[in-house]
Amino acid sequence: MINSILITSGPTIEPIDPLMFISNHSSGKTGYYIAEEAKKRDIERIVYITGPSNYIPDNVDIIKVKTAIEMREQVLKHYNDVDLVIMAAVVSDYASAKIYPDKINKDQESISLKLIKNPDILSELGNRKKKQILIGFAVETENIFKNGQKKLKKKNLDLLVLTEISESNKAFKVDESQVYFLTGNGIKANKKMKKSEIAGILWNEILNLKPNK
Ligand code: C5P
Repeated sequence: MINSILITSGPTIEPIDPLMFISNHSSGKTGYYIAEEAKKRDIERIVYITGPSNYIPDNVDIIKVKTAIEMREQVLKHYNDVDLVIMAAVVSDYASAKIYPDKINKDQESISLKLIKNPDILSELGNRKKKQILIGFAVETENIFKNGQKKLKKKNLDLLVLTEISESNKAFKVDESQVYFLTGNGIKANKKMKKSEIAGILWNEILNLKPNK
């Protein structure tokens, strides 16, 4: 029985100086529609942790964050209280090693920026998994099924929503996408459809899952 869930959504942004940051193309639409669908399915409590996005669902517990470190802190805070986690956020893989307190001036022709790896939040959840069902997302450009299956296993997930980015499937900042569902039982290919419809079929799939632990 799924009563309480945690959804992460949107991009994270990693500051460099007071003006610049590192981020990605995530709009937060996918997480938004998953939350809307959860409400239709009478989930009692929805904790929604989001990076900067214009897509914010109402009537859910909203927690706004900016960086991957902040997202990790909030996710871990709520992890033990939920039955299901859907990590739809596109977390920045790297952050600037230094956050410059003042604006970087443009006197020099080139500057180097050292990046350090962010923690992998979902892997951490996989390692600490007890009763929770864990859903991850992955975007791949090559060897998509091999890489997807590796992630499903390595991150100890119950389901991975896999997107192949290509000319015909841009996935970011568009309304439609084509995704695969990977579980311990294999690969399910879905048609290209609206992100709101993907949320619907994802929920059907989730309700048919049995936790793998
Ligand atoms: O390994 P990859 O970044 O492709 O995995 C994507 C999945 O892992 C997404 O569900 C994303 O939210 C999550 N992730 C994370 N922490 C990171 C990077 C990705 O939780 N630092």
